[in-house]
Amino acid sequence: MAGFDVVIGSRSKYRAMETVDTLLERWPDRKLSIHAADNQGAANTDLIVIATPWDGATQTANSVADHLSGKVVISMANALTRIGKEFQPLVPPRGSVAASVQAAVPRCRVAAAFHHVPAKELGDLGHPIESDVLICSDHPDATAAAAELVTKIPNMRPLDAGGLSLATPIESFTAVLLQLNVHYKTRVAVKFTGIADETGPKAGGKPSAPKAADPSESAPSAG
Ligand SMILES: NC(=O)c1ccc[n+]([C@@H]2O[C@H](COP(=O)([O-])OP(=O)(O)OC[C@H]3O[C@@H](n4cnc5c(N)ncnc54)[C@H](OP(=O)(O)O)[C@@H]3O)[C@@H](O)[C@H]2O)c1
Repeated sequence: MAGFDVVIGSRSKYRAMETVDTLLERWPDRKLSIHAADNQGAANTDLIVIATPWDGATQTANSVADHLSGKVVISMANALTRIGKEFQPLVPPRGSVAASVQAAVPRCRVAAAFHHVPAKELGDLGHPIESDVLICSDHPDATAAAAELVTKIPNMRPLDAGGLSLATPIESFTAVLLQLNVHYKTRVAVKFTGIADETGPKAGGKPSAPKAADPSESAPSAG
């Protein structure tokens, strides 16, 4: 829908084919360019999104490491568990799934993004959801590539949330959103106030640049 040619990967190409068929049947008028492949085929593209459960993300990246070399890889996995009625964040090695993937395949450039976007609502192409998308990476060009993708999705705004170390709280915060979903019987998304909207197509899809901080505003007051 955003104008990309998409290859859906799977550990079994046949499962990917079923997914593609389902999507094309659901949206016959959209002229979607979606193809099926195994994970090697999906990784043999320009921009890769790893969207497996958190405990399969590093292994999946490793299994296609040769294809990821030199490319931008978006990690969206959240390490969570449910204990009784409560969602709890888990802390993977290196603090986040995204940092684990970056460490596993150092020759790719990981951007963490999309953690807070509810998949079912995102997939309802007839009703675009309104959401900010926090992006963090140690590679500015990976942040820019993820931001360009986000900008092409209606009603979504990319925000540059800093380096990859920030993936830890971003991934963990998803537990709060899931808790809200249960409590309020809904599907929440995140929207931040206080940031001027400079992220539309006119701004070239770049995430909002932070303004220089005024020390007088941020310094803690005594008293
Ligand atoms: N669902 C949401 O609303 C949402 C929103 C934001 C972020 N996320 C994150 O996005 C990721 C995917 O979410 P999802 O709901 O799509 O998950 P999912 O349906 O459980 O898994 C997605 C696919 O990953 C593959 N997979 C499953 N276990 C695997 C393993 N151990 N190793 C490698 N591949 C495996 C499976 O494909 P094959 O069996 O065909 O290989 C499966 O269809 C999660 O980490 C989640 O935290 C989800």
